Amino acid sequence: TKRIVVLISGSGSNLQALIDATASGRIDGRIVAVISNRPGVLGLERAQKAGIRAELLDHKAFDSREAFDSALQALIDSHEPDLVVLAGFMRILTTEFVSHYLGRMFNIHPSLLPRYKGLNTHQRALEAGDTEHGCTVHFVTPELDGGPLVVQAVVPVATDDDASRLQQRVHECEHRIYPLAVEWFCADRLQLLQEGVTLDGALLPPTGYR
Ligand code: GAR
Repeated sequence: TKRIVVLISGSGSNLQALIDATASGRIDGRIVAVISNRPGVLGLERAQKAGIRAELLDHKAFDSREAFDSALQALIDSHEPDLVVLAGFMRILTTEFVSHYLGRMFNIHPSLLPRYKGLNTHQRALEAGDTEHGCTVHFVTPELDGGPLVVQAVVPVATDDDASRLQQRVHECEHRIYPLAVEWFCADRLQLLQEGVTLDGALLPPTGYR
């Protein structure tokens, strides 16, 4: 059973999907701690309700990114995780921090990477006239939203979509693919190698599993 630490900054609906998938036994893992960089967020309540240790590390209490990241690393490592899961954790991370968790840290991003790294992904997909949008789970590397892809879900864009409707449908897909990726990792089926990501020993395409 793998030890999982989840980092959040907000509502934690992806965290909830992971809580449910560990509780049902689908994921052979235990969420040992949830850490938020923002006080008072719903995700911390979700953790507490599930009996999971919920911790706040407010980035505003630190005067540099390096100081925050090194405190965060110490806090995470005190839980001895096998896997670190970024679930709506809205902070840019230092190379040193990311390198420490290379091959054992996931992020979820609301676009079909490598399209639309960064923010406002739904609006940007609409403005580009894309017919397909979606979400991606990837291994975290020092390049922002640039790590090797594990799994993507594709969401068709309707001609009358607006950003909030599109976001809602993408969000629902996130709740399906994040537990899937974590399930695979916890079953030792996923690996980050020099040449890419393997699932059961076979190299995934550059889009990840779709
Ligand atoms: C999710 O849509 C996630 O993809 C996004 O934040 C949201 C968090 O929702 N993450 C990013 O944009 C990372 N750059 P949640 O708190 O309900 O899980």
